[in-house]
Amino acid sequence: MTVEKREQLYEGKAKKVYATDDPDLYIVSYKDDATAFNGEKKGRIADKGVVNNTMTNIIFALLEKKGVPTHFVEQISDRDTVVKAVTILPLEVIIRNVAAGSFSKRYGVEEGTALARPTLEFSYKKDELGDPLINDDHALALALITEEQLATVKIITHKINGILTEFFLDKGLKLIDFKIEFGTDNRTGEVILADEISPDTCRLWDVDTNEKMDKDRFRRDLGKLEETYQAVLGRIQA
Ligand code: TMP
Repeated sequence: MTVEKREQLYEGKAKKVYATDDPDLYIVSYKDDATAFNGEKKGRIADKGVVNNTMTNIIFALLEKKGVPTHFVEQISDRDTVVKAVTILPLEVIIRNVAAGSFSKRYGVEEGTALARPTLEFSYKKDELGDPLINDDHALALALITEEQLATVKIITHKINGILTEFFLDKGLKLIDFKIEFGTDNRTGEVILADEISPDTCRLWDVDTNEKMDKDRFRRDLGKLEETYQAVLGRIQA
């Protein structure tokens, strides 16, 4: 497949999105930039873009095989991937299997406490507001999503959690929580998985040692950044 990169449409904190010569396709280009706390903390993790691009594509290909529709089309270089052109829904969809991060803080639950059931939450993607927690009614009232799309997103997200929990466990990693984003396919209108699934967007703890093997190492200054990203990719490719 030859797809030509055209003008840059968007630059996010970790990726750039380009138009192509095909109106139905974009090219996503992964950067090494790392940010936390809504961009307040800034840094770089060498070759993070390569790891996140490769890992996302391995996972999206697996999800497609299991019947989850995604934007993935083809990886064209170590940092660049051709994807279906989508319009991102302005909601971050988070599943938690084990208490950590903002959930632990908000409810006063120790990090690492198993949850009685996987819990799904939404954040409203709005940088000016710091991506606040939002509930279903609010998202519907603000017309961020339709009722039908909301139902679809919830079903797909729980399915992804089941697939990924098993996938990571097989690699010696516990899937504590993760964040995903959906878009509507610009051609068909279908709700499909977009964005990325990587150590930036998942909490992954080593099964034996509980060592954190994700972006919390950057957020919390735990060191071993490059090594950890490479180690996660190594396990996933094994
Ligand atoms: P949280 O505990 O900070 O709310 O994070 C929950 C999950 O979402 C965790 O796996 C990290 C991921 N996440 C993102 O991917 N992007 C973000 O901006 C934030 C705040 C969290």
